[in-house]
Amino acid sequence: MKSYQVAVIPGDGIGVDVTKAAWQVLEHSAKRFDFALNGKWFPWSCEYYLEHGEMMPKNGIETLSQFNAVLLGAVGWPEKVADSVSLHGLLLPIRKQFDLYANVRPHRLLAGVEGPLRKSEFDILCIRENTEGEYSGAGGRIHQGTPAEVAVETSIFTRRGVERILRYGFEMAQKRSKRLASVTKSNAQKYTMVMWDEVTEEVARDYPDVTVNRYHIDAIAARMVMNPETLDVIVASNLFGDILTDLGAAIQGGLGYAASANLNPDPTVPSMFEPVHGSAPDIAGQGIANPVAAIWSAAMMLEHLGETTAARAILEAVETVTAQQQVNHGMKTTEITAAVIAAI
Ligand code: NAI
Ligand code: MG
Repeated sequence: MKSYQVAVIPGDGIGVDVTKAAWQVLEHSAKRFDFALNGKWFPWSCEYYLEHGEMMPKNGIETLSQFNAVLLGAVGWPEKVADSVSLHGLLLPIRKQFDLYANVRPHRLLAGVEGPLRKSEFDILCIRENTEGEYSGAGGRIHQGTPAEVAVETSIFTRRGVERILRYGFEMAQKRSKRLASVTKSNAQKYTMVMWDEVTEEVARDYPDVTVNRYHIDAIAARMVMNPETLDVIVASNLFGDILTDLGAAIQGGLGYAASANLNPDPTVPSMFEPVHGSAPDIAGQGIANPVAAIWSAAMMLEHLGETTAARAILEAVETVTAQQQVNHGMKTTEITAAVIAAI
């Protein structure tokens, strides 16, 4: 029997509820599909920070490196701990240290879920570059606070970074509809995005069965709303992907449905799987968080680990539940979870 070691970090607020839900679904799937999941739970969170003065222990990354994957809930308790502290103390180090360069987000309107568009078909896979580009953090300010102030922030695109994210996109496109949209803005950004376009063209030669279209970021945002059926796999830089994935989450019915994976395809480092949403302090402790995003992220983890049948079964079960009941309207986290488990 195959066996996987998973580091579980529920985090704060509803992160705790939805992670518990996702783990129950995972445990049930493991039994049903005959593999073993060993979860080790870590209390690293804002509460942990208030007690220990750090979001995770000094050897946290080293500890996580022993696992096959990391399953995360959400981190943040803005009333007590500044978001910059919680983000930079846990999430960002994990993404950086394990070089989780592909941020993968499936945006699909599940059966029965009502989105804001008058369309029932919406199925897009967004792949966002997760390590460089516009969010490289290179820049500075001088003459701060005076009328002469200057602020500079430079995007850093490396050929290696651009090539590997595009390559990952092409591989996903081969597994799906064989259509890839490369997001650019080379009409206005004449260095970084022109290189992005060139690398897109070069990498495309290795995937002759994939049809590539180039869209400017503004145009593809409109297209996602007006003609989403013309899009399938989308590859974008850090900033462009950030914006498009929020749009995608909105169109698929909101944050309660948006799942994500932070991937490094190298199986020797743990990739991290988490719902897109945060700790939702406004509804924390009420037992009404939608666990679908977390459960879907857990399914992505199984897919990454190679348990494809179980991953598919979870998604089908989720959709059976959303098709039958209105998950959005007052169902409790535990009710939705039980229904998904029953459907598996
Ligand atoms: P949020 O995603 O926590 O909440 C935004 C809104 O969506 C709230 O009204 C919330 O009730 C609702 N919502 C989110 N997830 C839901 C779910 N599963 N079911 C039902 N409703 C849901 O974003 P917000 O309020 O901006 O941030 C709260 C805290 O979370 C902050 O400390 C922030 O830094 C942190 N955060 C952490 C993330 C992470 O760990 N990856 C991602 C985003 C925010
Ligand atoms: Mg965002």
